[in-house]
Order: sequence, then C-alpha cells, then structure tokens
Amino acid sequence: MAAPLPVAVVGASGYTGAELLRLLFGHPHCDVTGLYARKSAGRAIDEVFRQFVGLSSQTVEAFDADAVANRAQVAFCALPHGHSATVVAALRERGLLVVDLSADFRLRDADEYAKWYGSNERPTHPAPHLLEGAVYGLPERYRAQIADSKLIASPGCYPTSAILAIAPLIDRGLVATTGLVVDAKSGASGAGRSPALAVHLPEAGEGVRAYKVAGAHRHTAEIEQELGAAAGGTDVRLTFTPHLLPMSRGILSCVYAAPTDSSLSVDDYRAALVDAYDDEPFVAVLPAGTSPDTAHVRTSNMAHVSVAYDERAGRVLAMSAIDNLVKGAAGQAIQSMNVAMGWDERAGLRGVAAFP
Ligand SMILES: NC(=O)c1ccc[n+]([C@@H]2O[C@H](COP(=O)([O-])OP(=O)(O)OC[C@H]3O[C@@H](n4cnc5c(N)ncnc54)[C@H](OP(=O)(O)O)[C@@H]3O)[C@@H](O)[C@H]2O)c1
Repeated sequence: MAAPLPVAVVGASGYTGAELLRLLFGHPHCDVTGLYARKSAGRAIDEVFRQFVGLSSQTVEAFDADAVANRAQVAFCALPHGHSATVVAALRERGLLVVDLSADFRLRDADEYAKWYGSNERPTHPAPHLLEGAVYGLPERYRAQIADSKLIASPGCYPTSAILAIAPLIDRGLVATTGLVVDAKSGASGAGRSPALAVHLPEAGEGVRAYKVAGAHRHTAEIEQELGAAAGGTDVRLTFTPHLLPMSRGILSCVYAAPTDSSLSVDDYRAALVDAYDDEPFVAVLPAGTSPDTAHVRTSNMAHVSVAYDERAGRVLAMSAIDNLVKGAAGQAIQSMNVAMGWDERAGLRGVAAFP
C-alpha cells in the first residue's frame, strides 16, 4: 500500500481549519503532518478544539513556509483573504500543491479582485502572477482543470450553493441571465470563529436579517463570474441577498430566474439538473416537488438541489442546500485534492449527514 500523503493545514485554529482536520483525520490516504495558525501557535490542537481530545494533541505552530515544505506535499490554506495570498505564494514557490479556501484566487481578474477585496493596507492583489495558474475548485464544473492544477481556489460557500442550483439551467439556455436573484440564508459559522456582535447569541439567536444587500456582499462578484462563464462569457449582473440565520451550519439558496421559453415545464428544468448531476457523487437532485433542507446535508459533503416553476408568475426557482463548512469549504477542498491526486473523489468524504 502507498505511504500516506503528508498534508498541512494553515489556519488550523479556525472553523474551516477544524473541519479540514475532522475530515482529514479520517482520510484513507492522508497523514496530517503540520498544523499552523497565528494566535493559537504553541497550543495543542485538542486544547484549541476540544472535539479532538483523545484523537490528536499535535501542536499548532507559527507558519514557516520551509517547515511546511519539509513536512508536507499538500497544504490547505484556511486563512483570511489577503493574508492567504502571500502564504500561498510562499508554498507554491516551494512546489506544494495548494488548496486555498480564501477568496484570494477565485476571481480571475486582478482588477476585479482589487475592486472587491482591496483595502487601504492592501489596495492590489498580493500575488497576481499566480492568478493565471489558479483553478476555480468546483469539481462539478472544473474537474479536468483541477486534475492538472497546483493551485486550487476553493469556492466560497454562498457561490457554491448558488452555482450548483442554477448553472445547469444557464448552461442549457433554459433561463435568462438578466434579472437573476440569489436569495440565500447562512448559519453563523460562515463568519468564522472570531467573536463579533452581529453573531453574538442574544443579538442573532431569535431573529433573521438580511445583510450586505444591494451588491455589497463580495460573493456577488464570484457568483457573477461563474454564471457569466456558464452563459458563454456574458457579463452577468444579479441581485444577491444573503441572510444570517440563528443556526451554526448550513446554507439554503433560492435562485429566481426568468424562463427563456414559456412552453417549458418544471419537468424540463428538473431534467436539466438530472442530466448535469447524474454521475456526480456529491450533488443529489431531489424528487420532483420536494425542497432542500440544510438539516439533511449537515456535516456531509452533499449538495441537495431541486427546481420549481411558478407558472402564474413565470418564474423558475432553483434551490440548493449545503453545509457551508463542508461542501461550502473543507469538504469541497478535500474533494478537489482527491481529484488532483487521481484518487476516488469520495475518499474521506463518505460521511452521511448528521440528522436530526
Ligand atoms: N466559514 C465558512 O463557512 C467559510 C466557507 C468557505 C470559505 N471560507 C474562507 O476560509 C477562510 C477561513 O475561514 P474561517 O471561517 O475558518 O475563519 P476563522 O474561523 O476566523 O479562522 C481563521 C484562521 O486564520 C488564522 N489567521 C487569522 N489571521 C491571520 C493572519 N493575519 N495571519 C495568519 N493567520 C491568520 C487564524 O489563526 P489564529 O486564530 O490562531 O490567529 C485561524 O486559524 C476565510 O478566507 C474564509 O473566507 C470560510
């Protein structure tokens, strides 16, 4: 049997870092040989996250690119955007295969990145020379490119759910690319582990609110980029309205679109989803007439998708549910690594949703 592949997690003390570890500790072909973070450096991982007690007490270390390169062949970077790019660049210089969970390499255009992610401190992309070689890590759409890539930009959680729901209908020209509305709801872990008033239990536990509306959420650019690509390179402008729900995990997206042919029925739209996802291990098209529920994908790498047609209003409604930390982050990143390594895509990801 081949020796396990040594992998490192940079950003191991965050929520997506913890989820990477949960899945990688059970991966049949991987050995986690390095854990890195900033404030948590020097602490044991089972002290940072108690769910690892009895499983691992590896020490979390301060990031050092040479140390990572000496110990690992693959690195998952689960760092805030902006910081990630410099870490990724150092690891790519040392020849590692890098799967980046931040937004730093998702947008193909450096100017577009600067527009959405630039700050006073960092007005331009920190490593634009790497953008051309980066692949958008959504295996359902870029499997062949991921297999050949050394830098995989794992998609955002909201974009994953929106793209999986509507892209097959756009690919096939069944819905218009103008007037698209992405209405999505997320659990609070989408904001990461750092405490903030907006996700403080007394302030978020009993209500639901929209936030970063009217084109203010950065994931708008990523969704537009990928739906534009699905439409053959058209410029897409859509309305994306994210909401914060009082739960820890899960994203539900409802994408509203106008049909291009009013004679089509819901069966035609559903057939397009079945055609797109028939062979996909992690996307299930739900039975006609049913809607996805985040409770049915919680902790698993599955995306549940379905479609409805409101004949009265002439509106197609494509829906999806994912776990933001799994298919929306760590699970999808591991799925991409599996593709890049030529392994069974399901390796380490066979876990069924924890329901109820
Ligand atoms: N949460 C989600 O659902 C989700 C989904 C898809 C993608 N993402 C993306 O994945 C990345 C990680 O997200 P997360 O939710 O895991 O965030 P998080 O819980 O806030 O964790 C961030 C991690 O990065 C480390 N870190 C923070 N600032 C750093 C710096 N300046 N230099 C080096 N390390 C630093 C932290 O280490 P210390 O705490 O030890 O300093 C921690 O390990 C982000 O880019 C996020 O946008 C998140």
